[in-house]
Amino acid sequence: MAEFSFSYEVCSCRKVTLGEIVHAIREQGAKTIEDIEELTEAGSSCGYCKSQEDDFGDPKMQLYLDQILEKFTK
Ligand code: FES
Repeated sequence: MAEFSFSYEVCSCRKVTLGEIVHAIREQGAKTIEDIEELTEAGSSCGYCKSQEDDFGDPKMQLYLDQILEKFTK
């Protein structure tokens, strides 16, 4: 995941960047995808950005909310 900058747009529907999601996790205590959705609106439209299993889009997303959570909640 190191290749993504904080300005990378993870949720294209809601225009939410990696930086905003990391902020929600680290500073606002988000622990689940639902928390992130509530705080940033990421994942609240098509939902494809939530996880690989939720991604029915084409082309596929390159980075998912569950991966970000996994990495930044440790
Ligand atoms: S890309 Fe995040 S809700 Fe559609």
